[in-house]
Amino acid sequence: MCGIVGYIGDREAYPIIHDALKRLEYRGYDSYGFATLDKEAIHIEKGMGKISEAEIGRLPGMVAVGHSRWATHGGVTKRNAHPHTDCSGRIAVVHNGIIENFQELRKELEERGHVFKSETDTEIIPHLIEENISWGLEEAVIKAVQRLKGRYAIAVIRAGEERLVGVRRGSPLIVGKGKSETFIASDIPAFLKHTNKVMYLDDNEMIVADGKAKFFNVETGEPVRKRLITIDWDAKQAEKGDYPHFMLKEIMEQKDTIIRAINQNEEAILKTAEEIKRAHGTFFTGCGTAGKVCMAGEYIFSRVANKHVNFVVSSEFPNYNHFLTDKTLLVTISQSGETADVMEAVEAARKAGVRVISLVNVMGSSLHRNSDYTFLINAGPEKAVASTKATTSQLALVTLLAYAVTGRLEEGKRLLMETASKVNDMLNPRYEARITRLARKLRNSRDVYIIGRSLNYPMALESAIKIMEVSYIHAQGFAGGELKHGPLALIGGGTPCIVLVANDENRDDIISNAMEIKARGGYVIGVSPENNDAFDYWLRVPDVGNASPIVNIIPIQILAYHLAVLRGYDPDYPRNLAKSVVVK
Ligand code: M6R
Repeated sequence: MCGIVGYIGDREAYPIIHDALKRLEYRGYDSYGFATLDKEAIHIEKGMGKISEAEIGRLPGMVAVGHSRWATHGGVTKRNAHPHTDCSGRIAVVHNGIIENFQELRKELEERGHVFKSETDTEIIPHLIEENISWGLEEAVIKAVQRLKGRYAIAVIRAGEERLVGVRRGSPLIVGKGKSETFIASDIPAFLKHTNKVMYLDDNEMIVADGKAKFFNVETGEPVRKRLITIDWDAKQAEKGDYPHFMLKEIMEQKDTIIRAINQNEEAILKTAEEIKRAHGTFFTGCGTAGKVCMAGEYIFSRVANKHVNFVVSSEFPNYNHFLTDKTLLVTISQSGETADVMEAVEAARKAGVRVISLVNVMGSSLHRNSDYTFLINAGPEKAVASTKATTSQLALVTLLAYAVTGRLEEGKRLLMETASKVNDMLNPRYEARITRLARKLRNSRDVYIIGRSLNYPMALESAIKIMEVSYIHAQGFAGGELKHGPLALIGGGTPCIVLVANDENRDDIISNAMEIKARGGYVIGVSPENNDAFDYWLRVPDVGNASPIVNIIPIQILAYHLAVLRGYDPDYPRNLAKSVVVK
């Protein structure tokens, strides 16, 4: 939630930080700010909204830190924008995360005469560093972070010291190594155009970069050795190219990403399948869209493998601790691999001795490094806040695992290859144009309802997330059978209702539900392999059997995108949201 970045090297820092912040904007865009270090002076610039839409001044210096904010503590104001400084204005700090004990620390610091300028939790950090600065910057940072409770990644600079200090606990911080320069950032795309050589900081680790980069454990003060890893993402993948928005680009990339998701090490798939078979209870957990994929996993495993797995939304998973033993298996699904609620679920699982397997997109993320085994879904950088290509990749991999559990891995692969090829055919301009026409009809709707059954029930819930988060139209998903138990009261006078249909044993029932909607005056949009009299508008999808969630969600992604654009919203940056949610 917030992106942080730092630079030290032999180039002017501000254009590098400016560019990096634009690339991190998806993590938060309430305000931005950066501080440069020019010998004895710290220069600061802050602004509201997106840095990509701002005119920024040129600040001198070859060392700098920057921040893109998603507000948690303190309103969306310039005063609360980072960087924050100590009383002297000589120490500047940017921070991503939450300091849980900031109130007591602030009180303590104020009693000792420190003057605060913002309402943020972050501001206590420069003041704590200031209190210990006589020990030197590194030591003062160590002493400061030892007082902090919560999750954070910070970057610090100080007037008069040509160095950059960063610390990580619970929030991501990655180091990029150039020839004679060092970058630190919350995410790799921030510096990918300068270097693909990275080092991942682990919790409680600190980097001190001057000419060289040195690493320490902040609890023990001991030096730490880090491994330099070469990332195979290229900078272009993290750019929009000719597309007007990342969301549309990422939707279209599904032509390739499903294939990449299933291109996994077969031995690992089979080993995981064995673990799922052996486990006394397998839980699938994730949040938001990834949570809906986990829920779909419950249906997919039941249908394909006749195997019961449990879905629990991550923020509720710690409440299931009574069911966990060392024979339980936890499968986590997360695009970013940084979502705090998922990490808490992992922590709860670990306490009970549970093994953790993860499906993650971001290599080197916390989840990637803290799981017993991780499958990378290989979707490439997903920058739009609304998850699209990661969703279908996750669905594909879960489906593949279910087939592996039942000893039919090859059959699963064939189905998913065929699905990928049909998705490739679907994603053509004519199809998009048909969905755009529908979006024009729906653009002024107040509500949209979506129903599905079985595998497509979680997709109805996911459709609602997609429409709501980018178009701000109220959308709600239901199990088809639930309509008559309440929601039907809301249907009438052309209320748009999307019906997700698969050619399976639920087909007749969901079509009956569509009829019920039509009979009450609703406007029925059928997402289905075949047209039906119940539909007022038909969006054709291929018939791909157990892979139907993959093809059924794609037209809704496109619809959500066009609704946002037609209503004048930027689908890449929905209000109040951020790409990776690293707070509880
Ligand atoms: O990075 P994760 O997959 O763990 O993120 C989980 C949710 O925050 C995420 O899926 C969110 O719901 C998306 N904005 C939905 O499009």
